[in-house]
Amino acid sequence: MNLPSLPHRDNMIDRRSEAWKPPIFRPDGGTVAAILASLRRFLDLQAASIWGDLKSLLPHCNGTVLDVGCGAQPYRSLLRSSVRYIGIDRSTAAEEFGYQVPDTRYYEGTVWPIDDASIDTVMATETLEHVVRPEVFLAEARRVLRPGGWLLLTVPFAARWHYIPYDYWRFTPSGLASLLCDAGFGRPTVYARGNEVTVACYKVMALILMLLLGDLRPAPWKWGARVCGVLLAPLLIGLAVIGGWSLRSRGGSDCLGYTLIAPFPGQVLRDPLKDCG
Ligand SMILES: C[S@@+](CC[C@H](N)C(=O)[O-])C[C@H]1O[C@@H](n2cnc3c(N)ncnc32)[C@H](O)[C@@H]1O
Repeated sequence: MNLPSLPHRDNMIDRRSEAWKPPIFRPDGGTVAAILASLRRFLDLQAASIWGDLKSLLPHCNGTVLDVGCGAQPYRSLLRSSVRYIGIDRSTAAEEFGYQVPDTRYYEGTVWPIDDASIDTVMATETLEHVVRPEVFLAEARRVLRPGGWLLLTVPFAARWHYIPYDYWRFTPSGLASLLCDAGFGRPTVYARGNEVTVACYKVMALILMLLLGDLRPAPWKWGARVCGVLLAPLLIGLAVIGGWSLRSRGGSDCLGYTLIAPFPGQVLRDPLKDCG
């Protein structure tokens, strides 16, 4: 059978590379790394928005925190020193995402190397969209949580297709609530990170960063793009300031992503983001 096709358009399923991608996170390590991470957050509104929310939420964690799909463990330093941290990731993390980090338990398959009912907080930042079967992942989260524990997720919404092809989903608040309900969690609280202004700033900033850092071919295109990028650098800084400021909004129906908190079944959760202002 001959299927119809659209002219001048790629079949995206064949795509295996990205025009440009931001550098991956590095584990915490000294003053220079901290300065670079702050600079990254100034220019990367996604990173800034997640950091801002987790800075408010993670100090509320007690006991044992499990970070699933932990990558470079970029938020570990936000936990109190009394917390026991366990980072786990899939054995494919190095090959597919570039992460190979000490003090991480790498595992194969879908069953986490963690005992039942042994964890106080399960966190997974920017991971659920990379999981082919989110319902299996959430069932594991429920299995390992202790009564009284909670789940903390961040997921992107207005974000490009990244780590191609290992980026499978975008979630909405109602979609997340439905997935969590099916997994047996209590009613989640879902916070939007930013609003329409944040998204507009983020997208234009991404274009300028692509001109500055992207690997365009052939070489004359690349250097032309670099010159344009340098000329647009003042706009980049202005958008970073406006976008950063817009992250203080209550959240819009277009946003960079969502931060979600869900209680272990049957538990009523205090609202940590509201409680700490
Ligand atoms: C975009 S990285 C995020 C890393 C880190 N959590 C962060 O916020 O920087 C996605 C991570 O999800 C992990 N991952 C992908 N599929 C997974 C799965 N089915 N279960 C657990 N982790 C998974 C990857 O190995 C990778 O470390």
